[in-house]
Amino acid sequence: MSQSRLGGRTALITGAGLGIGRAAALRLAEEGAAVILADRNEERLRETAALLGDAPHLAIPCDVTSEAQVADLFSAALAWRPLDILVNNVGGGRSGRIADLSLEDWEATMALSLRSMFLCTRAAVPGMAARGYGRIVCLSSGARNGTVWNAFYTGAAPYSTAKAGVIGFVRALAIELGDSGITINAVAPGPIDTELAGPYLRAMDEQGLEYAPSRMVPLHRLGTPREVADAILFLAGDEASYITGTTLDVAGGR
Ligand SMILES: NC(=O)c1ccc[n+]([C@@H]2O[C@H](COP(=O)([O-])OP(=O)(O)OC[C@H]3O[C@@H](n4cnc5c(N)ncnc54)[C@H](O)[C@@H]3O)[C@@H](O)[C@H]2O)c1
Repeated sequence: MSQSRLGGRTALITGAGLGIGRAAALRLAEEGAAVILADRNEERLRETAALLGDAPHLAIPCDVTSEAQVADLFSAALAWRPLDILVNNVGGGRSGRIADLSLEDWEATMALSLRSMFLCTRAAVPGMAARGYGRIVCLSSGARNGTVWNAFYTGAAPYSTAKAGVIGFVRALAIELGDSGITINAVAPGPIDTELAGPYLRAMDEQGLEYAPSRMVPLHRLGTPREVADAILFLAGDEASYITGTTLDVAGGR
């Protein structure tokens, strides 16, 4: 009998070209899942696909803020295999102090974190419900409560708003989907040493800023993408069968 935790399962991970999304794709595949990688950057997709080697995978270029592209993504994904796990990982946004914030920056941040999550979840749920099984994991952030280092130095209201929105989405859908066999949860990372965010976070530490991440976090270090991927793996697996509507902090104690 297979010892792998996700043997026979198929997972779609958005933003799988880099960072936490890539780490999640590799970790889920390591535990036996077939993985569908979605990212708008084709070169990054190719790199993640190469790291997967012989593990079953499909890489699909897609901007997950586009309704038409998400429809195409799920057509291609579901033609390959039925979907058991969705990781709504794409998110992020633009900083700015409130008086200077443009409407465009505000809307772009909502689209990246919230519209993408809505479009992908809406596309995934009917198939999962028909099969009576689904695991959906969404990426929130410690920023849902205001991340001190971002909020104080650069202004982070759009990002914090979007990441708080993830919690409401997960809470409401956990109730709506309670009888369907689908669970939906969030992971809220603290400062993580990814390819893009890591250098910025480390620079704040190196400058000795009053609110630098490693000063504010009880474990006094940045987290790794794999540490977040382990939490995603747990919520995406059978061990988390009685957990829905919750948010798991992976934030070094903050
Ligand atoms: N890195 C951190 O410290 C941190 C902390 C808390 C929460 N998070 C959250 O975790 C998630 C992943 O963060 P990350 O830092 O690994 O991400 P990232 O910014 O490094 O991007 C990951 C991937 O997403 C892709 N992507 C961006 N926009 C896309 C779109 N519209 N369609 C398809 N692909 C797109 C990028 O090409 C990239 O390959 C995000 O939701 C982020 O808000 C990250």
